Amino acid sequence: MEFSIKSGSPERIRTGCIIIGVFEPRKLTSAGAALDAASRGQLGAAIKRGDMEGKSGTTLMLQQLPGINAARVMLVGLGHEREFDDGKFRQAVRKAITALKQTGVTEAVLCISTDVKPRNLGWHAAQSAIAAADATYRFDRMKSKQEMVRGVRQLTLLVADRADLAAGQAGLRQGAAIAHGMSLAKDLGNLPPNVCTPSYLADAARDLAKQYKLQVQILERKDMEKLGMGSLLSVARGSHQPPKLIVLKYNGGPRGAKPYALVGKGVTFDTGGISLKPAAEMDEMKYDMCGAASVLGTLRAVAELKLPINVVGVIPATENMPGGAATKPGDIVTSMSGQTVEILNTDAEGRLILCDALTYTERFEPQAVIDIATLTGACVIALGHVASGLFANDEALAQTLLAAGQTSGDRAWHLPLWDDYQDQLKSNFADFANIGGRAAGSVTAACFLSRFAKKFKWAHLDIAGVAWKSGVAKGSTGRPVPLLTQFLIERATKA
Ligand code: BES
Ligand code: MN
Ligand code: ZN
Repeated sequence: MEFSIKSGSPERIRTGCIIIGVFEPRKLTSAGAALDAASRGQLGAAIKRGDMEGKSGTTLMLQQLPGINAARVMLVGLGHEREFDDGKFRQAVRKAITALKQTGVTEAVLCISTDVKPRNLGWHAAQSAIAAADATYRFDRMKSKQEMVRGVRQLTLLVADRADLAAGQAGLRQGAAIAHGMSLAKDLGNLPPNVCTPSYLADAARDLAKQYKLQVQILERKDMEKLGMGSLLSVARGSHQPPKLIVLKYNGGPRGAKPYALVGKGVTFDTGGISLKPAAEMDEMKYDMCGAASVLGTLRAVAELKLPINVVGVIPATENMPGGAATKPGDIVTSMSGQTVEILNTDAEGRLILCDALTYTERFEPQAVIDIATLTGACVIALGHVASGLFANDEALAQTLLAAGQTSGDRAWHLPLWDDYQDQLKSNFADFANIGGRAAGSVTAACFLSRFAKKFKWAHLDIAGVAWKSGVAKGSTGRPVPLLTQFLIERATKA
């Protein structure tokens, strides 16, 4: 989708459709009032007939109103003005753009013209772009026949004042970059696991590097053996697909400035290994590489925005399969850090690949490391499909990430990483085990990772509940690309 911004009055603008907000009960926003006046009360009359109360998420299309240059006016309900907030704003944009898919409109003007305090125009512009792109995303690459694409391809934001154009444009640019990053992450997540293998992820990283002039390095099994990544390699043993460790560098900042590191879990299919998962919904374990996808998506957004910082992405990629050579419960492996791990459940594989990736990341002397992983079913039980679980060994880093989640609407919730939980990882035979029992499963998974994150400021995002949707709307969400990109945008402007 293409985004642009214009200033002017709503009745003058020529477009296939102008989108206007209506508060409950039947209360026009300022742009709506302007259109009503220009149409000599026709807009207001349509509302008085009772077809649009202004309930959040409802829409009404009006055709060919007199005195208005737009071919159509779409009214979108915003709910009660007192209750209007970030989420309702995003919802209004999403509903309007979704409703336009049923029409022949390919180009529209968004003029909701209502601000959520204390957000500024840049925020509204960015969020509009993200919500609109999200609502029109489709994945039909694997269908034999492509359906005709309907829906908005060109969206223009209308502001009253010329003086607002620059701020709006900057917001649109950020929103578009985040949307592009999300789209890449969604595509990778949605691809079937026979296509999106570790080698495919490595190729995707190479493509990204080529397009945005990033440095890329792919470590092969023999490289990992030399580095002593016994933990990562133990997960790959059951698979016929070779594991890859993908390293991508974006150098937009001063030479020598310490990078931010993003470490993404890239299990392209998680059967559970010898501790085999039950059959129901196992197909969804193709999404177990969504952490990796979010790293690639965020790097794409950062590179598109040319942020003046350095970022390194590290992606351990492998399948987790059963097989004659697969790791068995009870096996003990030595991680790159030298710490030994008793693998009591081969389905707790995410932490086993991330721990070696974290140790590898030490060499970049990062100013902060964030790992992103569909790590635990327990996180879905705790937080559902709303918030990512956030753990950190640094309070300031945690707070900054929480705030970026609020701003972007891609929220996280802080969970404890107290020492009290570490005991659950005790092993009789190795330094510690890879599981800590049923209680607080997300916390003990984070505790495991924390033992490999002692040398830097570190945060861990458990995205098991938010990375994809199940059921009829099954599909990748592109989260947490908005949170991560927002965090890095803020870091870039602080520096
Ligand atoms: N990829 C899964 C976590 C997961 C499960 C994410 C379901 C989303 C939905 C992870 O590798 C896993 O299997 N974790 C186990 C850990 C357990 C064995 C300690 C889990 O959560 O059951
Ligand atoms: Mn697993
Ligand atoms: Zn997994």
